[in-house]
Amino acid sequence: MAILNIRQLGDEVLTKKCKPVRLITPRIIQLVDDMFETMYETGGVGLAAPQVGILKRIVVIDCTPEPEPGEEPKEEDSLRFAMINPVIKETEGEQTGYEGCLSYAGMSGVVTRPEKVTVEFTGLDGDIYTLTGEGLLARAICHECDHLDGIMYTQKVIGEVITNEELDRRIEEARTRQDKDQEQ
Ligand code: NI
Repeated sequence: MAILNIRQLGDEVLTKKCKPVRLITPRIIQLVDDMFETMYETGGVGLAAPQVGILKRIVVIDCTPEPEPGEEPKEEDSLRFAMINPVIKETEGEQTGYEGCLSYAGMSGVVTRPEKVTVEFTGLDGDIYTLTGEGLLARAICHECDHLDGIMYTQKVIGEVITNEELDRRIEEARTRQDKDQEQ
């Protein structure tokens, strides 16, 4: 396993359309392993191959919720996926919220995405899977699939892109305002 270098906004590789994977070779499996390790190391919930300089249609996602305090993580709660050649088949509803990207470290912006997404992909075992995800998982699937077509979330942002410190400040401010409203 290895930690890979994550390309940052402005790098041309992030604007390219990626090629489908024709055969799942040991090299592809190694790449997926390294992508997971790189994603966990940097605290992301998704990573696409072009972000590590590989123009192939591969994404990894892990939106598994933290287990309740004192509880062991359960297999059935796992939202960890390696997707080869993912294709979004269906979308439903809408969600608008802050989103970030490991290729634009430390920044966030508001993006509207579908609330629910159905994606078809090839697994590392070569089988075809269909997955329907909601909320954060739906957002991650859309965000990562966009990377495979050379699209960064910054192209879809409503308003400005802000630093994560500014985002924390705004969340805190909104919370204070809410507390005040409740007092009145
Ligand atoms: Ni991203």
